Amino acid sequence: MTDVKIRIRDNGPLLVEGSVTLLDADGNAYPLDPSKPAFALCRCGASNNRPFCDGSHKGCGFSAAERTSGG
Ligand code: FES
Repeated sequence: MTDVKIRIRDNGPLLVEGSVTLLDADGNAYPLDPSKPAFALCRCGASNNRPFCDGSHKGCGFSAAERTSGG
């Protein structure tokens, strides 16, 4: 099993680390650069490059800093 991590960034994107395939709603794969260790998915809705984060979350007032309830 491949180890994939999805890290939630405070007030920002979902950082996906590991070998994954990202599909659109029709099942078509987005081209991902295999040389990069991670990519970021927008969760604020403001990106001009959705589903990827383009940094727009920094200027749109997006605020989210979820934490697990613990152990
Ligand atoms: S989370 Fe970065 S542009 Fe939306």
